Amino acid sequence: MKIVSFFAVSAFLFLFPSTSAQTCRTTCGNQPLRYPFGSGPGCGDPRFQGHVKCDEALQKLTLTTHTGCYPVTSIDYAAQVMYISDPTMSTCACSQDSRGFGLDWDAPFSIHENTIFALLDCSTSTSPIYSSTTPGNSSSSSPLCDAKGTSICSFLYSCHAISMMNQQVSTCCVYAPVDLGPAYEMDLGKLKCGSYSGFYSFDGQEVDPDQWKYGIALKYRFNVYNEYPSSCAECERSGGACGYARPLDTFVCNCPGSGLNTTSGCSFGASWSEAPGHVLAPRTGTWALLLSVVSILSLVMIRAP
Ligand SMILES: *[C@@H]1O[C@H](CO)[C@@H](O)[C@H](O)[C@H]1NC(C)=O
Ligand SMILES: *[C@@H]1O[C@H](CO)[C@@H](O)[C@H](O)[C@H]1NC(C)=O
Repeated sequence: MKIVSFFAVSAFLFLFPSTSAQTCRTTCGNQPLRYPFGSGPGCGDPRFQGHVKCDEALQKLTLTTHTGCYPVTSIDYAAQVMYISDPTMSTCACSQDSRGFGLDWDAPFSIHENTIFALLDCSTSTSPIYSSTTPGNSSSSSPLCDAKGTSICSFLYSCHAISMMNQQVSTCCVYAPVDLGPAYEMDLGKLKCGSYSGFYSFDGQEVDPDQWKYGIALKYRFNVYNEYPSSCAECERSGGACGYARPLDTFVCNCPGSGLNTTSGCSFGASWSEAPGHVLAPRTGTWALLLSVVSILSLVMIRAP
């Protein structure tokens, strides 16, 4: 009995510190995570948390919208651009049926102006992109496709995979700048197109579609004034990860190692004196409570015959 309780106490002593490790991580796989992105609930900015998540098992960052899940390729924090890929889009290496792309209406992202979408395999007779903007008026047929995009379509059709689609280059339509319209969606079914290709850079090689950067560039802003919150900047400078606490989504700085949450940075001394008592008190309280429960349990077990 004594041995059992000794183990129980030791287990608590050893396990407890590991359960209080940093909740909000500063990386997801090899992708550095900084504000406004976070590794899980309570981390980063609450407006972003529902849309961009770190898959714990795969260690991959993913954007989820009503049209699908999109791996995050990279984030340019200085330019405030997130690059994603769409596994269903056509590229120079692979042509396939696409699902289209849409952003959720409440997602804090918009399509970056560098993104070019080329609709592929569109029905020249029924697709609204080839007929007038007022349905039924066939005399005013002005395609919505960008005439300057015709060369982009030709380059795309120089790709073996795309020329294999067995469609005329005239079924390709480039529209840039991309405007997803009030539905925030490129609905390929409504547009009567089978596939699309998206890219955000020719990488200096406009005539070589093999080199283009396929994917979608999305820009984001921190808030209406696009200011980086100063408390978060201080938190990140001291090695912490920015997060928020329910119910009011108040700012917390989640510190490495200890996993302690402060309201400023993690350079202790500063934080211990600056952080209001209630930030640390509940944890001390929990710790003390656990210890007393364990002690009482051990006492009971030791006294038992
Ligand atoms: C610190 O904050 C994070 C994010 O809100 C939360 O998940 C975690 O439980 C907090 N940790 C402690 C020790 O209070
Ligand atoms: C069709 O469009 C043309 C040119 O925009 C316009 O002149 C004509 O009145 C329209 N016809 C109908 C029936 O709306």
